[in-house]
Amino acid sequence: MKFFIDSANIDEIRDAASMGVLDGVTTNPSLVSKEGRNYRELLDEILEVVDGPISAEVVATDKEGILKEGRALAAIHENIVVKIPLIPEGIKALNVLSDEGIKVNVTLCFSPTQALIAAKAGAAYISPFVGRLDDISHDGMDLIEQIVTIYDNYAFDTEVLVASIRHPLHLAQAAEMGADVATIPYSTITKIFKHPLTDSGLERFLSDWKESGQQLI
Ligand code: E4P
Repeated sequence: MKFFIDSANIDEIRDAASMGVLDGVTTNPSLVSKEGRNYRELLDEILEVVDGPISAEVVATDKEGILKEGRALAAIHENIVVKIPLIPEGIKALNVLSDEGIKVNVTLCFSPTQALIAAKAGAAYISPFVGRLDDISHDGMDLIEQIVTIYDNYAFDTEVLVASIRHPLHLAQAAEMGADVATIPYSTITKIFKHPLTDSGLERFLSDWKESGQQLI
């Protein structure tokens, strides 16, 4: 399973990358806007820190505009994956971009049929948003199960990229379901390490060691 970080904050990206388990990055216009930085400079820095797929999102909503922005983003670096919203104009642009060999991550997916049409049109990744579905009392993880089944049934190459992850349980369930990628916010990455038995266990080991009076090195 690939781990991406869902962030446009360079410090968070650097810290996650330093753990050696980071395979890529996803950004979106909201995350970029929070940073208050020049988009191009930010992308260049991210590309330096992470050698893997970096999703950069278009903001145009018409086919020609999406094509123009998508080609410009893809031209920045071979690791850039163009992120396109799951709207009819986006699907039309996706067909063209994928024929040109440009990798596309189709975002804002909330249903299995949306995922199906994105795969048929040549998406490299589909991004179903589990947390936002949970927010409106739908089980977001049910959608992941449906998409994994549908893609397996027809051997689609499109990778299932679980997005809008809110807590480690989403990540565990995504892994159980065989999702290809999880894009994880930094706050959730830090939560993976939080377990009271880990903390109390370490405290006990350290105090016992201190009491023994031994030196390790
Ligand atoms: C996906 O690529 C999006 O950037 C992201 O996961 C959205 O998450 P949110 O619902 O926490 O904003």
